[in-house]
Amino acid sequence: MADRSPVSRRFDNVPAVWLRVPVLRAVAAQILAGVIVFGGAALARKYLGQITPVPGLVLGQGGMACLIGAWFGLARWWAPLNLFLPWAAYYSLQLALPPWLYLAAFFLTVAVFWNAAGERIPLFLTNAKTWAALEDLIPAAQDTSVVDLGSGLGGTLGHLSKRFPGHGFLGVETAPVPYWISKIRLSGHDNVTLRYGDFWDVSLEPFNVVYCFLSPVPMERLYAKAKEEMRTGSLFVSNSFDVPGSPADEVREVADRRQTKLHIWRM
Ligand SMILES: C[S@@+](CC[C@H](N)C(=O)[O-])C[C@H]1O[C@@H](n2cnc3c(N)ncnc32)[C@H](O)[C@@H]1O
Repeated sequence: MADRSPVSRRFDNVPAVWLRVPVLRAVAAQILAGVIVFGGAALARKYLGQITPVPGLVLGQGGMACLIGAWFGLARWWAPLNLFLPWAAYYSLQLALPPWLYLAAFFLTVAVFWNAAGERIPLFLTNAKTWAALEDLIPAAQDTSVVDLGSGLGGTLGHLSKRFPGHGFLGVETAPVPYWISKIRLSGHDNVTLRYGDFWDVSLEPFNVVYCFLSPVPMERLYAKAKEEMRTGSLFVSNSFDVPGSPADEVREVADRRQTKLHIWRM
């Protein structure tokens, strides 16, 4: 499958460990862009007497960081962030915001995107058309149990648990903010349990359907875990990400804008 994923693997095997972590590559792209743009402007001022207005430099920094980020193998979704970050810094300096606000914003971001840097699994959500496609995969039998590994804001579980009120659903999530949002959001769903924790610690044996929407990074390891633990006849379903060397038994294409593919393995 062509890698249309939002997570790049180009730097997976470089010797410098920090270069394998996308968020650090994004920081490096900003620093390098700052050196080039602001250094270039300082030289132009000294030798040509040319003064570049600060908003122009900020725009240049964002654009340059986008280009360097792409060269560093950052996924496409980093581009708007790289572009926006220098503007955010510039305007917040103008506003003279209290320092604790930066710290609070930083911790909030970390609490939402808990797994983006380490596990390289960012928060993006299954859409409503894919929820409908998932309905067709869930067996009708009353004792069916389903797990969403990395349940995010709980949208998938919320939809499916309403559609199948007799089934049991489990969501496992380590990012604190998404976990608490889903906990509040699904508090009235009696057939949903949410567990704050790492899905690598959860046995997949009890589930008839294991659903995940993660990134290319954990797929090989997760498939090996599924093969070892899941029962014969159960389904392992991955939204968008396949397993290198272990093609799915079936791939269902969803008629949504991003042409989501559900990769389905029958155990
Ligand atoms: C792409 S989101 C999918 C959210 C949800 N399943 C959906 O489809 O709408 C992936 C989620 O997996 C979570 N995650 C990543 N690694 C995890 C781990 N080891 N244990 C539990 N959750 C994890 C992330 O925090 C993120 O919320």
